[in-house]
Amino acid sequence: MSLPFARLRRLRQSARLRDLLSETTLSCRNLIAPIFVRPGKNVRRPILSMPGQFQFSIDQVVKEAKELKKLGIPAVILFGIPSKKDTTGSEAYARDGIIQTAVRELKAKVPGLTVITDLCFCEYTSHGHCGVVKGKSIDNDATLSLIRKTAIAQAEAGADIIAPSGMMDGAVKTIRSALEQGGHDQIIMAYSAKYASAFYGPFRDAAKSPPQFGDRKTYQMDFRNSRQALLEVEQDLKEGADIVMVKPALAYLDVVRQVKDKFDVPVAAYNVSGEYAMVKAAAKAGWIDEEKIILEILTGIRRAGADFILTYHAKAVAKILER
Ligand code: PBG
Repeated sequence: MSLPFARLRRLRQSARLRDLLSETTLSCRNLIAPIFVRPGKNVRRPILSMPGQFQFSIDQVVKEAKELKKLGIPAVILFGIPSKKDTTGSEAYARDGIIQTAVRELKAKVPGLTVITDLCFCEYTSHGHCGVVKGKSIDNDATLSLIRKTAIAQAEAGADIIAPSGMMDGAVKTIRSALEQGGHDQIIMAYSAKYASAFYGPFRDAAKSPPQFGDRKTYQMDFRNSRQALLEVEQDLKEGADIVMVKPALAYLDVVRQVKDKFDVPVAAYNVSGEYAMVKAAAKAGWIDEEKIILEILTGIRRAGADFILTYHAKAVAKILER
């Protein structure tokens, strides 16, 4: 009998040993909860395509945020559903726009919670695109001037981190220079490698933001590519980003790993709405063990190299890990 002397199973004998040797940790310290904010008072409207998620009016956002903070979630990222949309998405940069108002309330009422603002226009524009539409295309540089205004409005409201997600070239540079000129020093978390993805379907339903014509393929990345993701990250870092993001997460773990290996900077991954919805649907059908699947997915994203994860599972994970 010539069995191998190297028996890797030796290290898996007991839970104690397996824990001792575990390489990757999952903690709610490394999770960010997305929150959808809508007009009104005392509203908690369930999002049908994302069971367990809601559109909250601002008073309810405050309540939810207090709960998240108590559970150990350090940060939230806000998405707004405005009362009216127009061609330039003006509520995105209005001083009293839904997000700016929500940020002021959160900073006043939930001290110690990090508040991140998504900076994009698709939720605010009547055409549902992430920038200024000229004819049938998106005008990058005209969009930059709106990005500038929005960054200033979000900074003045007191956002801790600004997260541009529209994939416009020069967005980070525009925001960094606007902030510096205004004497602001917000962290910029860039959605650097954001792919044109069918996994955003439920979000667009939740935020009422699907494009009214065409798609987002002229600005979001082609999922067949990863070299471009590294160039996008490199560019955003040169322009002044502090944190870079890969989005979605699960079909892009190779991209997370490549970014992590190549750049010594914080890397975030966004476990997006479609990834969430698939888990919820399969769990509801009784086909998977929801809690185990969530922990395995999020640990996998961490193992791929993400320092932290934006996930709709944040609250559930905090509750699981608390036990
Ligand atoms: C805004 C934005 C989107 C998401 C985050 N920010 C939608 C999109 O690009 O269409 C998607 C998040 C998710 O699916 O969970 N541009």
